[in-house]
Amino acid sequence: DKGQYKHYMLKEIFEQPGVIQATLNGRVGKGEINTQLFGDSAQQLMDSVQAVQIIACGTSYHAGMVARYWIEELAGIPCQVEIASEYRYRKTITLPNTLFVTISQSGETADTLAALRVAKERGALASLAICNVPGSSLVRESDLCLMTQAGPEIGVASTKAFTTQLSALMVLTLSLAKTRGLDSTLEAELTDALTTLPAKVEEVLALSQRVEQLATHFADKQHSLFLGRGALYPIALEGALKLKEISYIHAEAYPAGELKHGPLALVDSEMPVITVAPGNELLEKLKSNMQEVRARGGELYVFADQHAGIEDQEGYHILHLPKIHPLLEPILYTVPLQLLSYYVAVIRGTDVDQPRNLAKSVTVE
Ligand code: M6R
Repeated sequence: DKGQYKHYMLKEIFEQPGVIQATLNGRVGKGEINTQLFGDSAQQLMDSVQAVQIIACGTSYHAGMVARYWIEELAGIPCQVEIASEYRYRKTITLPNTLFVTISQSGETADTLAALRVAKERGALASLAICNVPGSSLVRESDLCLMTQAGPEIGVASTKAFTTQLSALMVLTLSLAKTRGLDSTLEAELTDALTTLPAKVEEVLALSQRVEQLATHFADKQHSLFLGRGALYPIALEGALKLKEISYIHAEAYPAGELKHGPLALVDSEMPVITVAPGNELLEKLKSNMQEVRARGGELYVFADQHAGIEDQEGYHILHLPKIHPLLEPILYTVPLQLLSYYVAVIRGTDVDQPRNLAKSVTVE
């Protein structure tokens, strides 16, 4: 039931504070993370992990890309991420003591399941599924699972499944990091930040009218470019995927540093450029990328935090977001991009919940 909402997608976007909370419950305590995510017997196994290989498709793959930044930074474990349909068909080298992590909303994605089966033959230490559907094939076939608590997701465009995957992945990262010497101050900082995350997401949702107004600028655009750096680069990819799948506007995403290496040639006044630019250490570099866009007449849509020092000016449309711990920015900054694609699709009159040519669950190759 869509309740007061016009579409399931909008309802699911607005459910995020609650389902993120549900995904964190029991896993994040006051000032500390629960390291017993999989019970006593799995603890030894988790302690012996020396490498992480993440596999997924689509939006779930973008969650994996974010997790790579987290796992390498906080847990200090080498982490690779690959699209399931690529991984399964190439010869890969499994590093010793590899934890093989699959991410899937449905748990029934054919390529992800096939990759899991292949990984077992390739000698992974153990498999762990991050999944939203209890009892799904992926959960049944994996050694361990960490369930997201998003509840049923009806809209084909994944929204709450993604932010709960990210929340679960941060919990997993912190749990791996803790037994590998994570600084307790940082642990407390991050667990506190996770505790405030649902309320911050709520604050972003309260900006939906402003996002709806920005969306009017996209009504008759053909193309768009999304830019981000660091762990916000996968969020740019996810923003572009959302926009293309429900509004049918061609959208590409680049790490901002690649702009000069090709895509800048596309920029003119007809090419809106969307940047996710929280006030993190990479902001200064992103600012000069934005100037390059402006110099070519490109209109910028900037999602930045209040303290980023970016203000509305000609050619810049700014949406200020609440400040959050830098490591959690990927979760928070996803939300306005979901809203943007939603409102653009509504303006263009597309079938938001059931975009053409797509299925919710891709159970065949
Ligand atoms: O169920 P899964 O998470 O395994 O599905 C993977 C992709 O098919 C899925 O994330 C798809 O990209 C989304 N519908 C995009 O919004």
